[in-house]
Amino acid sequence: MSLHIGAAPGVIADKVVITGDPLRARYIAESMLSDVVCYTEIRGMLGFTGYYQGQRVSVQGTGIGIPSTALYVHELIHDYGVQTIIRIGTCGALHPGLLIGQPIIATAAYSDSATHLLYYPDFDTPSLPSDSLLQTTRTIAVSSGIPMLEGPVFSTDMFYHPDPLRWAHWQNKGILAVEMESGIIYALAAVNNVRALTLLTVSDNILTHSSSSASERQLVDEGMMKLVFAVATQEI
Ligand code: HPA
Repeated sequence: MSLHIGAAPGVIADKVVITGDPLRARYIAESMLSDVVCYTEIRGMLGFTGYYQGQRVSVQGTGIGIPSTALYVHELIHDYGVQTIIRIGTCGALHPGLLIGQPIIATAAYSDSATHLLYYPDFDTPSLPSDSLLQTTRTIAVSSGIPMLEGPVFSTDMFYHPDPLRWAHWQNKGILAVEMESGIIYALAAVNNVRALTLLTVSDNILTHSSSSASERQLVDEGMMKLVFAVATQEI
């Protein structure tokens, strides 16, 4: 049994969809999976296993930010042998033209987290997703008519940062959007030789200050959910 997930060995599938909000994890599992079993409720960080089109898959909440996400991803990989991790989440757009609801594939994750320097030489070197998951997502998104935008994201440790001018540096790098988890997910997946990819929906625009409500963020577009499970369960 692992320290934070605390579930028995074998109850988690080797393909896991992760999301920051545990209530979102429950919503996703109950909307998309059959024969759903909740395998953990420790600290309210819910985890579920069920079946998507006959294939076993799990959905795990991870909390907000890199430290919380890192410990769940670590346990999924080391204690439960998880091979495929797909994050479904929300992000703040860092481009004025990006609208609420725009789906994004995070093709790289820059970060300002000290944890980034445990794995990479500097903050100019992003962590990268699994190439095979990226290719699979592109193919399925095109055939499903989901207009995914691709680009690098920025995984920050500070949602409420004291410097209002800090974005210019990251905009100049072509960052599409800001979130708080993908940097460490990609790093841990890469060093442990498992697959990871993040799919995001724009929930607010940092530059224009438009945003969706907290309850809207808990819901996930059905097309995105189908895409995530189709990618997770694709044989690659
Ligand atoms: N900043 C950081 N993380 C986020 C944001 C944001 O604006 N929106 C959704 N996740």
